[in-house]
Amino acid sequence: MKLIDGKATANQIREEIAEEVKEIVASGKRAPHLAAVLVGEDGGSITYVNAKISDCKQIGFRSTLIKKDADITEDELLAVVDELNQQDDLDGFIVQLPLPKHINEEKIINAIRADKDVDGFHPENFGRMALGMPTMIPATPLGITELIRRYGIETSGKHCVVIGRSNIVGLPASILMGQNTDTGNATVTLTHSRTQNLKEICLSADIIIAAIGKPGFVKEDMVKEGAVVIDVGTTRVKDATRKSGFRLRGDVDFDAVSPKCSYITPVPGGVGPMTRAGLLQNLMVAYRQKFL
Ligand code: GUN
Repeated sequence: MKLIDGKATANQIREEIAEEVKEIVASGKRAPHLAAVLVGEDGGSITYVNAKISDCKQIGFRSTLIKKDADITEDELLAVVDELNQQDDLDGFIVQLPLPKHINEEKIINAIRADKDVDGFHPENFGRMALGMPTMIPATPLGITELIRRYGIETSGKHCVVIGRSNIVGLPASILMGQNTDTGNATVTLTHSRTQNLKEICLSADIIIAAIGKPGFVKEDMVKEGAVVIDVGTTRVKDATRKSGFRLRGDVDFDAVSPKCSYITPVPGGVGPMTRAGLLQNLMVAYRQKFL
């Protein structure tokens, strides 16, 4: 069993981008600039957004954090998006999800200018991704394909089972894995809450991508010997021994499943850091589209 080190791989990607940014700035151009909009006080969202801003600082991006109260109206948030859309010295921005229930997330995402949508959530970018055209790809599936590429994992002709069909992970991951690319060409099964015989389907998988947000869902008896297991889950579970009072748990029962795997991602330290790196890669795509 080989552990896939997402933390080290993400560090490497950050170093590569930092090098490129250094060259850009040395040539007299301004640094790439990312903004993040954080609405409300969701603990997970605050942590993730702070991490994204800190990544920007580390690699030489300019960054702007915009915080809004949870009671902001939809129209007010749309006005924030509009302002960022028009800001010339801003290359890309994200609105951290989930948003408070009174705000329609789809409406907000659709209002983001496609060429600044570094999450790759806008329908135009999602469509381009699905068609294999150059675009910003949602950060988590992008991170998964980077791990597959950098670890030299064979995907061509393999059976890839994706568990979970969310717009930001499962659905785009299922599309990317089936595309005619060096990290694709898999035969893909996209499974979800209505899937029958999930255990049997998983047992035939060469690659499992677990993205349902249920801690420990993928058990030892669902995984065949030698499979590659990518765990996207990051559920906070109570842990009194931690200062924070919680720890992160993946969708895979790691202790039981890992001895059977050829490769497996840990939680934390697997896909999570790669998602952060994916956003930085997307900002470079947005910047290059504009300047280079
Ligand atoms: N919430 C969970 N993951 C993400 C992400 O990748 N982008 C945004 N904007 N919100 C998220």
